[in-house]
Amino acid sequence: MRTATIITGISELTTNDEELGRLTGAALVFEGERITWVGPERRAPAADQRVDLGGRAVLPGWVDSHTHLVFAGDRTAEFTARMAGRPYTAGGIARTVRATRAATDEELAANLRAHLAEAAAQGTTCVETKTGYGLTVEDELRAARLAAAEADEVTYLGAHLVPPEREAADYLDTVCGPMLDAVAPHVSWCDVFCERGAFDAGQSRRVLLAARERGLGLRVHGNQLEPGPGVELAVELGAASVDHCTHLTEADVDALAASETVATLLPACDLSTRQPLPPARKLLDAGATVALATNCNPGSSYTSSMAFCVSTAVLQLGMSVEEAVRAATRGGATALGRDSGDGAVGVVRPGARADVQALDAPSAAWLAYRPGVPLTHRVWRAGRSLV
Ligand code: NIG
Repeated sequence: MRTATIITGISELTTNDEELGRLTGAALVFEGERITWVGPERRAPAADQRVDLGGRAVLPGWVDSHTHLVFAGDRTAEFTARMAGRPYTAGGIARTVRATRAATDEELAANLRAHLAEAAAQGTTCVETKTGYGLTVEDELRAARLAAAEADEVTYLGAHLVPPEREAADYLDTVCGPMLDAVAPHVSWCDVFCERGAFDAGQSRRVLLAARERGLGLRVHGNQLEPGPGVELAVELGAASVDHCTHLTEADVDALAASETVATLLPACDLSTRQPLPPARKLLDAGATVALATNCNPGSSYTSSMAFCVSTAVLQLGMSVEEAVRAATRGGATALGRDSGDGAVGVVRPGARADVQALDAPSAAWLAYRPGVPLTHRVWRAGRSLV
């Protein structure tokens, strides 16, 4: 028999639901993996057990829709050199590829699990992660299998870079052929790094079309280091998201606003690579759907903290607290196609997955008001208490 748990003592409940809105004096109930009731505490139904939060803010668990967690090795020296003035080029990816290929399955799985646990301890309850540090058929397949065993969503990123031992045209044949065939049963999404020095628009289109043929959803790494064709291509192909969006033209902003493609912003990466910050305000004012994610990886953005991304978005990107929290929860869910229906994430309403976090704070505003202070009090994922 399933146990019903009621959460009371909520000072402020962010639901991200159009009808429920932001509630005070509310309670919520979950049974098994689903939320079954949300409403005023005084009208709450009976439950088997009660958790009283003593006046703390509750919001959906973070949805981190962009990470690269199947990796081995360390790039501290590259980061330190960057902070001393050396520019970021994606060249360091090859270093992680070497370390990842050399690692055992057990080492990669343990590292992946450790990073997922680190994220969960900070309120993250739904995580996408990618392949992309293998870049051979065997290593990409291994990354896809390991990721599928641990993460909510897995993306194939064979088109991360052309590995040093391969020639571009020949490598693309592999990415669109035997590599795609091998990983397809284990992944839902395909991504491509569409950037000068990685893959151009024509090469990226080819990868994405091959993946679409295989029934995969699409996303694009675009406009990270300079203006480029990534956003345009993502919108043209109806990709679920285009991630980075650091260097956008007015036409890119308009195209995103007129599309269903989510603009996923990765401000921790921009800070760690000394790039400008993305034009979040322009995107929101134009009507684009915005997500915030960590881009946790050992090279360009080594943080699993969604709270850091939210506080940065508020303090430096001009987003309101409400916009930033929504982007880090429901925005990510939309980018992953998980924002509606039974078991939706990024939202607190009956039928949604019981992914909820309570802050050691009376209001979500404290995420930006007290930046850098660990505020996680409790975390439930699919109704199971993690913290
Ligand atoms: O999203 N842009 C390409 N891929 C990663 C970088 C990974 C790395 O530097 O290892 C990113 O930033």
